[in-house]
Amino acid sequence: MRKLIKPAQTTPSDASMPSLNGSKGGVGHSSKHESAAKHINGSAQYIDDIPVLPNLLYVATGFSSQAHAEIKSLDLSAVKSAPGVVDVVTHLDIPGHNDVGPVYGGDPLLAEKKVEFVGQPIFAVAATSLKQAKKAVKLAKVEYQPLAAQLEIEQALAAESFVLPTHTMQIGDSEQVLNSAPHKVAGQIYVKGQEHFYLEGQISQAWPTEDGGIHVITSTQHPSEIQKLIGEILSIPLHLVVSEVRRMGGAFGGKESQAAALACMAALFANRLQRPIRYKMPRRDDMIQTGKRHDFLNKWQAGFDDTGLLQGVNFELSAKCGYSPDLSEGIVDRAMFHADNAYYLGNAKITGHRCKTHTVSNTAFRGFGGPQGMMAIEALMDEIACQLGKDPLDIRKTNLYQADRTQTHYGQDVEQQVLPELIEQLETSADYRSRRKQIQTFNQKNTYVKKGLALTPVKFGISFTVKHLNQAGALLQIYTDGTMLINHGGTEMGQGLYTKIQQVVATAFGVTIDRVNVSATRTDKVPNTSPTAASSGTDLNGMAAQNACDIIKTSLIEFAIEHYSNQDTTLTANDISFKNDLVTIGSQSIPFGEFIKLAYMNRVPLFAAGHYKTPKIFYDRDTAKGQPFLYYANGAAVSEVSVDILTGEYKVEQVDILHDVGQSLNPALDVGQIEGGFVQGMGWLTTEELSWDNKGKLISNSPANYKIPTAFDVPEKMKVDLYQQQNTEVTIHSSKAVGEPPLMLAISVWAALRDACASTTEHKFIPRLDTPATPERVFWALKECQEFMGGNKLNGQVN
Ligand code: MTE
Ligand code: HPA
Ligand code: MOS
Repeated sequence: MRKLIKPAQTTPSDASMPSLNGSKGGVGHSSKHESAAKHINGSAQYIDDIPVLPNLLYVATGFSSQAHAEIKSLDLSAVKSAPGVVDVVTHLDIPGHNDVGPVYGGDPLLAEKKVEFVGQPIFAVAATSLKQAKKAVKLAKVEYQPLAAQLEIEQALAAESFVLPTHTMQIGDSEQVLNSAPHKVAGQIYVKGQEHFYLEGQISQAWPTEDGGIHVITSTQHPSEIQKLIGEILSIPLHLVVSEVRRMGGAFGGKESQAAALACMAALFANRLQRPIRYKMPRRDDMIQTGKRHDFLNKWQAGFDDTGLLQGVNFELSAKCGYSPDLSEGIVDRAMFHADNAYYLGNAKITGHRCKTHTVSNTAFRGFGGPQGMMAIEALMDEIACQLGKDPLDIRKTNLYQADRTQTHYGQDVEQQVLPELIEQLETSADYRSRRKQIQTFNQKNTYVKKGLALTPVKFGISFTVKHLNQAGALLQIYTDGTMLINHGGTEMGQGLYTKIQQVVATAFGVTIDRVNVSATRTDKVPNTSPTAASSGTDLNGMAAQNACDIIKTSLIEFAIEHYSNQDTTLTANDISFKNDLVTIGSQSIPFGEFIKLAYMNRVPLFAAGHYKTPKIFYDRDTAKGQPFLYYANGAAVSEVSVDILTGEYKVEQVDILHDVGQSLNPALDVGQIEGGFVQGMGWLTTEELSWDNKGKLISNSPANYKIPTAFDVPEKMKVDLYQQQNTEVTIHSSKAVGEPPLMLAISVWAALRDACASTTEHKFIPRLDTPATPERVFWALKECQEFMGGNKLNGQVN
């Protein structure tokens, strides 16, 4: 038996953290997640835990069994008369606009004449129990006229069938350089998608309000978009809709746009029936009906010199978008922005296709296309190393952005050069060179087990690539007992955003974090919010919260100067400070709570709304040039694997991570994000395999046939260190975003597996290894190596 729970070896040491302004638990401390105890003892309330309201009804949808078809007829009579059914709706019952698409539309809430994927909702039922609702939808009689279905990227490319136009980014002249380069390589990789598998499935509960409006509690990363779409579906103004989120049980991008259908459906019934409605998707429906990470087919041609330095490269990235645009414009753009990962391209042309397929519309997933984009260049680095007979790490280091090579293919300069030194440090701390030698010896000695090693970096651009989303608001209220309530536009999905905001506010006033409560995100408190996405939750909302603190502090300081100055002393702002739960005014200190009471009695406003917009960023999509990111978050990982070359089975032996979070706001939460992101990325690249049958029906539709990593899959030797160097851009306490970037550290596991395969050819050949690199795919890659070596001989030793 393996140990079930092992504490990770990590750097944060709470005791060594300085207390900014004497704020106990404030910024820099490894304060516990604000809901940690509630998560453990089960009292943290998720939507399905909310006590049932009188007259509550449950929803189920009847969905398409066809990938592409005309609906010839729809007979719902048996559904309507089924036990427990109170109401049945089709698209004809939608009073407003039948579309829940986030940017371009194209996602009907209920299908009209045509269906475009297996799982597309056609009608919905509200019944007195979920069981009855689910039973009733099965009684529908739907007649289809099947149409030709396009299920694969390759088919869409051949037909030039895209959900949005193809886009290119270009720097220099790659065509010319590709012709003249001394060495060339061409390759491709198919990177499969990923199911979000949030522990809490998609869910919303809506009820009517007295003035014809709707209050919805929803598991979404984007409360304001839900508010807007409910307004559009019901044709009512936005000030009648309140959308509220206390917490999600995980989201990972899957609840950025695709929570909307549930919220809108619940709102539609709540409005029609004037009753409360709960719509939760059973796991299987959730897997069938909601979008996933995009599959990508990536192709490249590259030219390089004798040292392995890239001279020019062309990338063609083709994403499987599904039937509608959803967020695919931004996702494929982000893949293109990250086709360089950490390397200077010089001359490059990057083409991004958004392929239309008759499958569920794919959506945001941690990294937002970035991970898929990076896979191409990381594969390429290993291929260059193989051609030149060099260690892949040396090729990677040679190609890094560095002092005199800073310009990306989209025109932004990589200003803060973190990776050259970070990699150097990790190379030493993880003992890369001597382990490489040991592995070579091991591989020479062992016939059936081969080891592989890889160090891969991550450079991830921080900011929404859609400019207007880079803003946030916060509402801070201080009560007369000196406690505070902060409300902001971000949502909590387990990542610890609320905790970090609590720390920011406590630090601003120099008080203990217990004084600060962070309450549910609500569109009637902070309006027009951006989705909590792009890892920007803390960057944006932390700054907005800090701005609200500054506004109130300014009023409090003005009051203190006025109230405490006298004939003998004229106070200035410099005489007032907020520290150690005290307000110090000249020579006297007053407990914070007492001072607040005094301020209230003197009619000082004790609430304020803060706002923040990210400076410096711009991007012109027509020229594909600009500065879309405020800064980059960086990291690197070394992974070691061992592979059984007779079966393709493998084990991740050791992982060493060094990750750049700037000046950490909360080292424990940051390390948690790094560990979780890494393991989730490892699942994506190794065990999680989405599969459909040839009619477009999802086969991997339950945990029994879709394998997410468990506690047992966490490498036994896993070390995470923070590279604590201040962000050189002005961010909240000089920190950096952490949510998505660590996922891409898992590319090192995939590269190590490929390295182990290549070792069977003495690194003379490197096989293609599509993902997920399941034991089966590793086996076929080994087979390819065996063929290279001339027939049946593995490493020249086995028959
Ligand atoms: N961590 C947990 N525990 N649960 C999640 O759903 N989502 C990830 C990341 N970390 C997620 C998570 C994704 S996709 C993003 S964009 C960020 O958190 C969003 O939160 P942040 O901007 O506050 O980091
Ligand atoms: N990342 C995540 N979500 C988004 C983005 C992005 O860059 N742009 C729009 N939604
Ligand atoms: Mo994260 S994919 O930006 O929600």
